[in-house]
Amino acid sequence: MSAPRGMLIPEMSGRASSPVLVGRAEQMAALEAAFVSVRQGGPSAVLLGGEAGVGKSRLVSDFSRTAASAGARVLTGGCLELGTDGLPFAPFTAVLRDLVHEMGADAVASMLPGRTTRGLARLLPELGEPDTGGDPAEARARLFEEVLRALEYLTRHSPLVLVIEDAHWADRSSRDLLTFLIGNQRSLSGLLIVVTYRSDELHRTHPLRPLLASLDRIAWVERIELQRLTRQDTSELAVRILGSEPDGDLAEALYHRSEGNPLFIEALLCCDGEISPELPESLRDLLLESVRRLPEDTQEVLRVASAGGASTGHLLLAAVSGLDDAALTRAVRPAVTANVLHPSGDGYAFRHELIREAVHDDLLPGEHGRLHSRFAEAIDADPALVPPGRAAIEMAHHWHSAHDSAWALIGAWRAAAQAGRAVAAAERLSLLARVLELWDQVPDAAERIDADHVHVLEEAVAAADDAGEFERGIALSTSALRQLDPAAEPVRVANLLIRRSHFKLKLGRKDYVADLEEALEYVPADVSAATRIDILLSLSHCPPNITIERSYAEEALALAREAGDEAKEAGALLTLAMFNADPGQQAAPDSGPLGLITQAREMADRRGAKDVVLLAAVSESHLLEGAGEHERAAEAARRATADADPQLLARTSGTVLAVNQAEPLFALGRWDDALAISAAALDHFLAPGPMNRALLHVITGSVRLARGDLDAASRSLMTARGALRSVRYEDQHQLPLARLEILLALATGGPAAGLAAASQTMDRFELGGSSPRYGWPVVSAAAFAVLAAARLAGPSHDERLRDEALVVADRLRTVAEKLEKFGPEQRAFALTFAAADADAARLIAGFPDGGHADAGLLAAWDEAASAWDGLGEPQPLGETLLHAAEAALACGERDGAAERLQRAAPLAARLGAQSLGEQIAILARRARIRLDGGDGSGAAVAGDGGAGGGGLELRLTERELEVLRLVAAGRSNREIAGELFISPKTASVHVSNILGKLGVASRGEAAAKAHSLRLFDPTSSTA
Ligand SMILES: Nc1ncnc2c1ncn2[C@@H]1O[C@H](COP(=O)(O)OP(=O)(O)O)[C@@H](O)[C@H]1O
Ligand SMILES: [Mg+2]
Repeated sequence: MSAPRGMLIPEMSGRASSPVLVGRAEQMAALEAAFVSVRQGGPSAVLLGGEAGVGKSRLVSDFSRTAASAGARVLTGGCLELGTDGLPFAPFTAVLRDLVHEMGADAVASMLPGRTTRGLARLLPELGEPDTGGDPAEARARLFEEVLRALEYLTRHSPLVLVIEDAHWADRSSRDLLTFLIGNQRSLSGLLIVVTYRSDELHRTHPLRPLLASLDRIAWVERIELQRLTRQDTSELAVRILGSEPDGDLAEALYHRSEGNPLFIEALLCCDGEISPELPESLRDLLLESVRRLPEDTQEVLRVASAGGASTGHLLLAAVSGLDDAALTRAVRPAVTANVLHPSGDGYAFRHELIREAVHDDLLPGEHGRLHSRFAEAIDADPALVPPGRAAIEMAHHWHSAHDSAWALIGAWRAAAQAGRAVAAAERLSLLARVLELWDQVPDAAERIDADHVHVLEEAVAAADDAGEFERGIALSTSALRQLDPAAEPVRVANLLIRRSHFKLKLGRKDYVADLEEALEYVPADVSAATRIDILLSLSHCPPNITIERSYAEEALALAREAGDEAKEAGALLTLAMFNADPGQQAAPDSGPLGLITQAREMADRRGAKDVVLLAAVSESHLLEGAGEHERAAEAARRATADADPQLLARTSGTVLAVNQAEPLFALGRWDDALAISAAALDHFLAPGPMNRALLHVITGSVRLARGDLDAASRSLMTARGALRSVRYEDQHQLPLARLEILLALATGGPAAGLAAASQTMDRFELGGSSPRYGWPVVSAAAFAVLAAARLAGPSHDERLRDEALVVADRLRTVAEKLEKFGPEQRAFALTFAAADADAARLIAGFPDGGHADAGLLAAWDEAASAWDGLGEPQPLGETLLHAAEAALACGERDGAAERLQRAAPLAARLGAQSLGEQIAILARRARIRLDGGDGSGAAVAGDGGAGGGGLELRLTERELEVLRLVAAGRSNREIAGELFISPKTASVHVSNILGKLGVASRGEAAAKAHSLRLFDPTSSTA
């Protein structure tokens, strides 16, 4: 890096600062501990808060030096105070710029997949043409991913410390990216993230607050609050600054006035060892004192620099101050010597932001406006005075600060166009909001920016969509619609209505269909076929249980064919496939609907319509899963995710594919995989909306429930319930939650609570009219509650419980009669319901002695069991076998019972299904049935920690054992992933679960423990 001519090179200065860090031993130790844990491969982040001047930056920079000398690379980026003009991704841009300076652009490119920096170029124009166009949400996800990849690459060679300073000023994009990185830290080892922020700036509605709160919940995030220095440390700091012991009075006065804030201590100490004689009136005066001691022309330059922002380039400062190189250097030198300014990059920064603020606040009103105008003009005349890509936004900021409405409006408009390239929708939205705000103050606004008011609104609507600000989007589109005449501009109106309906849909509001229907009226095919197809497709993509006319999809198909638009034709075919599969919402592999989907996918593939290809996979996996084709469903979702570059798209439109993958994996009993996929999808904070989040929590909660972790299951349930609270009703979201609610109530509160939950569900939902795909699982869960109640009521002579069971059983039967059965999955649920219902009925009829079981009941349970067996679902198979065994015993068939229990026991063990396993064991004990059958099949690892005979309750699943073996062999997550055909993310989730179960902190310890337990000895049965 070369400094511009005349620029000051750092020189000895800083008599006003202490050369050594005073105090802070504890906080330093905490940072070092975090660093150690990162070196061992764990994720770690530290949030360091404290008031301005208390020493956050100093602590971090001293720590960074230690880390660097221990071999770490340190990357630091600061957030800037630019108000709403916040430069998108400012701290990350700074980090990247340093990296490019250090390594060169080519080396940075080689860190990325495909060796292209087109995504990162959005952060740093020096990297070349950014890839514009495409879906902004995807572009953003890709950018985030590239940053993650780049960091991952860097950590391969040495540990990495990423410092984000002054996060209280972070723009929204930076906040999102930061959240994303910390949330995904588990997938990179060797990265420590340190974030500093001014805690005294965080007023009640400060946007950093919710972010800190949510990060705080992450296990590897530590929060440190830096307090002021103690009396003793204050004296020591004075010694360090002065070079000699201050006398007692001075030390006392210093502590009294500074209250232990190091910045104030520095400001209070004159270089001659005196404390300023007069008590400064305010903090500002205190900070200004060091400035006022400087020569007048130096002070003038400082005033100019204070308007330039956190740091100002040398050449820009020269241009604005009107000084030539030599004169500027002369004027700046005393400020650097007095430690008021620091050389920074190609220019200068104030030693502390508070000093800059004090100088800036001290400007006279006219001077303030004039300076900012001069900055704007100078940048306009020579954009190269600011880093590439920054001119527009810097100018917008300066014109706005200069209170020049016309130029502020123009500047904001231009900067908004720029922000679009940086994938920073939130910033674009706030710039456009400023244009709208200033509109009335600028008489000829439309001419000046060559766009009318509605056009600005339309841009803002698009930005609101990209930024996920749906409420705002509704308000903006409504006000645009008010200004337009549908008769004159039908297509424009229709497009706004489509957007508004989309916002409403995202918010889960029910009235979104009306907008689409209105739009349809304005745009007949002869006005615009393309727009009409869009409206029709949006209409026909409405949730399946809202009765939308099939004719919409058919008309869209016809229009798309007429227009020769294959991408849209493919979309229409998908919709038709869904219609054809209705009302069972399931389709067998070689059925008509799946044929249509294949046709649509091939067509979309040909046209390169990747979103439609993904949509095809969503439909395919959805319908296959409904038909009980779990393997195929999981595979369809997995393949699409993999093909679509899982790292990028699974986090946007592909996330619903995570649900469609986790669901069948759950059914197949591959619970760890289902958990890993859910956790990975939930970890990506670019969450896919409340509905998919809720479903992932339901799946997670179901595993936790089955494994006996009831507290954790309740937490999942609450989270899912919270996510769905304000969302439009749909069977496919609410009913899986209702099923979990019933089962969890049964597990935690017993049969009475289970019954209550079942009847509440029937009160709340019109189950008989629900989609049978989602209705049957609820009905069968409720039947288990009835059965449990009936079984308990007899022995305890509880007539009330019996009567309640009877009522719920009757209601359930009415519902079940109305539900149709499509495909083997729904039939298996129906058979299970029938068996449970018959079982409960005989217990109730025979109250209190228990009724007589006959061969019919045993056959009913057996039939249900064989249906589940055919579907490959171990959990319901185990459950129905257990009940069948019970029925067999009641019929006096002990051998039959033994045979069924011996089949069920290993299923439960393999799943780690605790409660099921216990019930099987209890029944077996009661009937004196031996479970292990001598072949060891019941002694799976999960149930009894039998691996290696260590006798420890390790509760490792088979998959975890496989992963552990590879960990013990020293493999990385990536290598494990390759070997086991799973994603590195999944591998990392397994690894952290394994560490948790083994109670160890690192891979090394895990390997040691595996060894000491002889887990993988050749003699061990599981090795
Ligand atoms: N523990 C310390 N020992 C010595 N000097 C310190 C210490 N803490 C802060 N300082 C000095 O006080 C000034 C303000 O600290 P700084 O880290 O910039 O504050 P913050 O980042 O919290 O606003 C700096 O000049 C810094 O060098
Ligand atoms: Mg600081």
